[in-house]
Amino acid sequence: MQEIPMSDTVEMLQAILGAIDEGIHVVDANGMTIFYNHVIAKLDGLTPEEVLGKPLLHVFPSLDKDTSTLLQVIEKGHPIYNKRQTYKNLRGVRVETINTTLPVQVGEKLVGAIEIAKDIGKLRELSERLIELQAQIGKSKRVKQAPSDRLFFQFDDILTESASMHVLKTRAKRAARTSSPILIYGETGTGKELLVQSIHQASERSDRPFIAQNCAALPASLLESILFGTTKGSFTGADDRAGLFELANGGTLFLDEINSMPLDLQAKLLRVLEDGQIRRIGSSQSVQVDVRVIAATNEEPQKVVKAGNLRADLYYRINVVSFELPPLRERKEDITLLVSHFISKFNRKFSMQVNGAAPDVQRLFHVYEWPGNVRELEHVIEAAMNMVEGDTLQLEHLPAHMMSRVELAEVYTAAGITTADGWAAVEQRHTAASTLPLTIRPLREAIRETEEALINLALEQTNGNILQAAKLLVIPRQTLQYKLSQQERTEPN
Ligand SMILES: Nc1ncnc2c1ncn2[C@@H]1O[C@H](COP(=O)(O)OP(=O)(O)OP(=O)(O)O)[C@@H](O)[C@H]1O
Ligand SMILES: [Mg+2]
Repeated sequence: MQEIPMSDTVEMLQAILGAIDEGIHVVDANGMTIFYNHVIAKLDGLTPEEVLGKPLLHVFPSLDKDTSTLLQVIEKGHPIYNKRQTYKNLRGVRVETINTTLPVQVGEKLVGAIEIAKDIGKLRELSERLIELQAQIGKSKRVKQAPSDRLFFQFDDILTESASMHVLKTRAKRAARTSSPILIYGETGTGKELLVQSIHQASERSDRPFIAQNCAALPASLLESILFGTTKGSFTGADDRAGLFELANGGTLFLDEINSMPLDLQAKLLRVLEDGQIRRIGSSQSVQVDVRVIAATNEEPQKVVKAGNLRADLYYRINVVSFELPPLRERKEDITLLVSHFISKFNRKFSMQVNGAAPDVQRLFHVYEWPGNVRELEHVIEAAMNMVEGDTLQLEHLPAHMMSRVELAEVYTAAGITTADGWAAVEQRHTAASTLPLTIRPLREAIRETEEALINLALEQTNGNILQAAKLLVIPRQTLQYKLSQQERTEPN
């Protein structure tokens, strides 16, 4: 093996670190800067030349060996993770970063430290702007609105013909009368937000704010200040700001993807749920708030607790009232209704006059697994409405990834195989036969080839044993024999 010269490796590393869009600052064991990229230079209001090759404390006189994270890491040899820093740089610009500082070791020997700084100033500004907008929406919606320009969903918007969903709606309407916390579980696109908004709308809180926050959308330290607010002059250097709990006072706070909330913050949330008191970061005073908290997760709550991403004590508190939204594949009776609902919606939106979907399309929709649930169905209809000619949605108007399933569905149906064991099984077989190109071609030809390939595969796996191959394909032996004789007839000799 050819060795890469050391100087090339160093240059390569420098190029990589230079191209990263996070601030990187590396010092040697004596606290002398040996690498300083443009991102961190911009944050600090300096140029790399002003910093490189100089002792850190000379360039940053406001720091000392106890306040500099880089020097602390060199002294103690331990990493410091996700430390929030707020400071005015040398040009007087306020900078907010989240830093991770790690010791650099060669073998056993500590040779320096590296600091990685993520600029969160922009993110914070945007989050705060979002809070202001949410608060404004909360206020403006106290004025009655016409259903067509309603900002929030109501129970009537949850369309369903499924018995389990009807039960869920009835239970949710009852729960709308109280202020107990609620936990909602449902896969992505099953209508969690729809349900949460409906509960708020049906409650006595409907003329008070509804505020939603996705816990996965923000870094931990920012999420905390967004939820609880900040006090001027506190260690974060932040302004006086109300958090979402205060802004949602009297109303509903929807905490989506609760399992992404850091565990220490979950403990804080639990305390708020217990005594209704919040304290802004940096403040010693508590404020009483009256907020109904609805939390949601798209992973099974008990699994999330087991995996350690949701504190058990918080889980028991928010699970007092809980709802599980079934995935669309488990309530196929809703598909026809939702298809016509979305067709009407896009007819209105695009000024079109589509009447409906062809029977083939409906059939495919009923065998398809819908991993993205109702949202995916909505998007598929929107995509088809962009492709349709005439007044009926046809198979060819559907997205390509569904067409490959059509071919397979046809094959399996033709072979007498039901998809009762789900698309996972179908796809597994499909992967096994993945020599098949999945481009759009004449359907009949594609079906015949797919069928032949699957039969050959089954025969290969069973060393030509027709009975076993038929079992693998889940078709009667006679059917397989018939198909083989048909194949022979069409085979060129
Ligand atoms: N039963 C339903 N009737 C009508 N529309 C629905 C229904 N369920 C979901 N939708 C629509 O599907 C889309 C997705 O719903 P929603 O945003 O509530 O899902 P979600 O569970 O919050 O998804 P995610 O986990 O990805 O955030 C929305 O446009 C919503 O209006
Ligand atoms: Mg959602």
